[in-house]
Amino acid sequence: MVNSIVSIDVDFEAEIKRLKKEMNAVILAHYYQESEIQDLADVVGDSLELARKAKTTNADVIVFAGVHFMAETAKILNPNKQVLLPDLDAGCSLADSCPAPLFKSFREKNLNHLAITYINCSAEVKALSDIICTSSNAEKIINQIPNDQPILFSPDRNLGKYLMKKTGRQMLLWDGSCIVHETFSERKIIDLKTQYPDAKIIAHPECEEAILMHADFIGSTSKLLKFVVDDSGKNFIVATEPGIIHQMEKTVPGKNFIAAPPEKNCSCNECPYMKLNTLEKLYLCMKDRRPEIILPEDIIEKSLKPIVRMLEMS
Ligand code: 13P
Ligand code: SF4
Repeated sequence: MVNSIVSIDVDFEAEIKRLKKEMNAVILAHYYQESEIQDLADVVGDSLELARKAKTTNADVIVFAGVHFMAETAKILNPNKQVLLPDLDAGCSLADSCPAPLFKSFREKNLNHLAITYINCSAEVKALSDIICTSSNAEKIINQIPNDQPILFSPDRNLGKYLMKKTGRQMLLWDGSCIVHETFSERKIIDLKTQYPDAKIIAHPECEEAILMHADFIGSTSKLLKFVVDDSGKNFIVATEPGIIHQMEKTVPGKNFIAAPPEKNCSCNECPYMKLNTLEKLYLCMKDRRPEIILPEDIIEKSLKPIVRMLEMS
C-alpha cells in the first residue's frame, strides 16, 4: 500500500511534533540520518544506544529514523508496541550480504563455534545467533568468551579483522562488508593529511584495514563523537558516514570536521539506505501509521535471546 500524497504546504516539523504528542510516540534517530531528522528526534545515537533506548521507552509507538535492522531490533525488544520506519526499503548492505539460509548452513558446518553476530543483520539471522554485538561493545563481549571457545563472527569481515587484532582471538569470519565504509580513498586521506598535518584521522571499524592503519582513533559512531569532544585537537578527518558530522559540529562548534572522501567523485560515502528517510516520509509514516515493522512471533522469541545476552554483557 502506498502512503498518502502530501500537500506541499504542510509544515513537517510542526506536524511531526503534533503527531508525536497525539500518538505518545518517541522518535529514535541514528547519527547517519539527515540533519533535520536528527534535530527533531528525541534520541540520536549509535546502534547500541538506540537499542537500549528502545528497551526502556514508555512511549506507545516507536518511530525509527534509521535502517530496517535497527527498527527490527526495536520491535524484537517491544513486541507489543507499534514500530514505524519511514521507508521500508531502508536496508543495509551488510545485512543483505548475510541471507539467513546461507548463515544457517555456515553455522551447521561449524557446530562447535559460538556465533557472535553484528547487529547489522536481519531478525532471522539474529534468531540463528548466540550473541549480538555492535561496534561499541563487540570487543568487550569477545573478551568475555573463554579462550578455548571457537567463534564465528558475522557478517562484517572488516570489523571482524579489526576485532581479531584488538582481542588477539582467531575467529571464523563471514565475508560481508558495508558499501559505504569500503568506499574511502586511502590516497585522498593521505593528501588531506598533507594539507592538514595536525588533523587526527578517526574511523569506524567497518572501514578497510588500509584506512584503519592511518587512524588515530577507531570506534563506533558515538565513540567517534566522544573522541572529538574529549580530544584537544582542532581538525579531524572523519572516516565514516558524514551524517555524524552534524552532531560533531553541534556538540563542539569550534572544531573543524572533514569528511573522508570516496575514491571516485561521487557521494558514495553517504549511506543510500539511511538517506531514503526524509522529513516528509517521517511525517507520512506517523500520519498513516505505516510502514510498520511486523515480525513472526517465533522469530521475535528466538532473536530476543541473543539481543538480551548482548545487553547483559555490555
Ligand atoms: P554504529 O553502531 O557505530 O552507529 O554503526 C552503525 C552502522 O550502521 C555503521 O555503518
Ligand atoms: Fe549498513 Fe553501511 Fe549503511 Fe551502516 S552505513 S547502515 S553498515 S550500509
